[in-house]
Amino acid sequence: MMISKIYKELCTNKAKKIYEECGKYIIGGVLDVGSGRGYIAKEISKYGKNVQCLDVKDHNLTDLPLKIYDGKRIPFKAGSFDTVLVCYVLHHADDPTGLLKECIRVSKKRGIIFEDNADSLLTKPLDILFNRLHGVDTPLNFRSISQWIKEFKKLNLKIIKIKRGVEKQWFYPGVEHIMFVVDKV
Ligand SMILES: C[S@@+](CC[C@H](N)C(=O)[O-])C[C@H]1O[C@@H](n2cnc3c(N)ncnc32)[C@H](O)[C@@H]1O
Repeated sequence: MMISKIYKELCTNKAKKIYEECGKYIIGGVLDVGSGRGYIAKEISKYGKNVQCLDVKDHNLTDLPLKIYDGKRIPFKAGSFDTVLVCYVLHHADDPTGLLKECIRVSKKRGIIFEDNADSLLTKPLDILFNRLHGVDTPLNFRSISQWIKEFKKLNLKIIKIKRGVEKQWFYPGVEHIMFVVDKV
């Protein structure tokens, strides 16, 4: 009971920090791809935004709508959402580029991506530690900042913002988190 209360507190605190970073870049309705427990989506919804959660498994602990899918073809029409948020998810996909292409397809304009820096010392061991406990697959498909930039350019995305060192947590040391904001052109 006590542990789950502390855990919820940590997750809510993380969601608040993420919103502080990306809130000003969110436009219109949001699709939260790989929404996990849903705390980030819930935080965003507090600011009057409609948020649809999407995941390959049901970890949702909120009252927000969640759609489960196969991890490949996002079950929404092209341009269904003004903003698509992909928070610490791409490195969990077997095919990160394929997932990114799907995110671009269902986005009308904006993509907001948070990722762990592949070059940080503890990125891989901490990903295994934190995710396998919760039954989340860890194919460890991490990339460096320059690899992501190359990927976004290849997909014809305009980079609006890159912010390094975002959302620092004491329980996640030695891993740099990066936020990328991109637009379809
Ligand atoms: C590390 S958790 C991140 C959860 C949440 N976005 C956050 O930052 O707290 C990764 C999530 O991505 C989901 N996931 C893995 N592969 C996925 C895919 N191909 N499409 C969508 N979600 C996926 C997992 O089930 C898990 O909920």
